[in-house]
Amino acid sequence: MAFTIAIDGPAAAGKGTISRAVAAHFGFAHLDTGLLYRAVGRKMLDGVEPILAAQELVPDDLQVEGLRTAAVGQAASRVAAIPEVRAALLDFQRAFARRDGGAVLDGRDIGTVICPEAEAKLFVTASAEVRARRRYEELVAGGAVTDFETVLAETRERDHRDATRADAPLKPATDAMMIDTSELDVEAAVAAAISAVEARSLERVKG
Ligand code: CDP
Ligand code: CDP
Repeated sequence: MAFTIAIDGPAAAGKGTISRAVAAHFGFAHLDTGLLYRAVGRKMLDGVEPILAAQELVPDDLQVEGLRTAAVGQAASRVAAIPEVRAALLDFQRAFARRDGGAVLDGRDIGTVICPEAEAKLFVTASAEVRARRRYEELVAGGAVTDFETVLAETRERDHRDATRADAPLKPATDAMMIDTSELDVEAAVAAAISAVEARSLERVKG
């Protein structure tokens, strides 16, 4: 049986962390859709035309090192504004979402465009300062040389680009449950997400 959990939100809101924990809790498969755009962004930086890169993307491209850097994040958000790139990645995401055994997908447009029929939708957010602080700490822990103000400016730039593009802009689905993680640690955010999914499943069973 298929059961799709859609988790959307801006950069470093905690989507990936929550998605992995929710998938493990329910025994579902997980797809970080940001990695698809990062892989295409990476290829663009290497000189490949982005629409072609998206059309020819293979699962091994998601295993490449260095997809998590700030430069690849910016490139990802640029290629993500190209409608043909988004279209080329659609079927793979939809097939993943409807696989047997349940799936969690996290990204920007899962609840609005990829899986509008998802059984449960969450929109995970946090203030730009809190998100930039988290991303800054991750980058520094990974050995990157940067400063908080730069990461904050990049976070705001990417938020703006993602929310204002014409095709599949970042926004909560009307039926998404909102989780603000600004003042939640990982454990509390995960617990809130699991309760929200359980509440929504119960509503569906009761009809
Ligand atoms: O990890 P982080 O939240 O920083 O970014 P990501 O989820 O890896 O996404 C990188 C970029 O891909 C985003 O800034 C979006 O522009 C784009 N993206 C998208 O357009 N749609 C998705 N479903 C996922 C990511
Ligand atoms: O996937 P997304 O870009 O939304 O965020 P992430 O990569 O899951 O999380 C970014 C960082 O914030 C990670 O280092 C998490 O450990 C941390 N964090 C979190 O995810 N949730 C909280 N409630 C607190 C911190």
